[in-house]
Amino acid sequence: MDHYFTNNENLKSEIKIINYEYNGCSFSFLSDNGVFSKNHIDYGSRLLVETFLENTETRGKVLDVGCGYGFMGIVIAKILDIHVTMIDVNKRAVHLAKRNIDKMDVNAEAFISNVYENINDKYDFIITNPPVRAGKSVLLDILINAKEHLTDDGQLWYVLRKDQGAKSMQKALESVYKVENICKSKGFYVFLCKKH
Ligand SMILES: C[S@@+](CC[C@H](N)C(=O)[O-])C[C@H]1O[C@@H](n2cnc3c(N)ncnc32)[C@H](O)[C@@H]1O
Repeated sequence: MDHYFTNNENLKSEIKIINYEYNGCSFSFLSDNGVFSKNHIDYGSRLLVETFLENTETRGKVLDVGCGYGFMGIVIAKILDIHVTMIDVNKRAVHLAKRNIDKMDVNAEAFISNVYENINDKYDFIITNPPVRAGKSVLLDILINAKEHLTDDGQLWYVLRKDQGAKSMQKALESVYKVENICKSKGFYVFLCKKH
């Protein structure tokens, strides 16, 4: 079975437009077959981005892990007027993210990376709606190893559904981070992690 991250290049392209608005600022994303949440903005991603924007006063370098067509990174780059780096293992997603960066003229870059393999920098914020369907080891790799790519005061923000093991993941991450559940909505939990 093909998942949205399996890089099936034979999958027919059918470009769609997804609109979104934040505080009077309009966004229009190109999406396609073979990427996550291709027909609408995922509720968890929206909750994560909006919670992040409402709770973040400082500016800094942001890394969006598993960027898909670029929703989270592009909204953050535009609203906070900062540079965002976006990575994904899915080639079609990265291609769309690049097109969306150009289309919305934001200060951001997108490139292929399997988890952090092409990341050498440190970031003030790592933000992710992680790929649950890729399995627990990828999930742990993204969330636990974020620590190596955060500055000393850096923050990891992620969203997970209650029925996707949000509570047990929180426990697993508590050995590595101070973990705070910032908001809950419709079964989605947004977490903020800081290094001990
Ligand atoms: C839940 S989706 C979120 C997509 C996007 N951030 C959004 O909000 O629409 C998770 C993303 O992680 C990507 N992904 C899966 N495995 C990955 C890996 N090993 N390294 C990097 N990204 C991965 C998927 O291709 C997918 O785009």
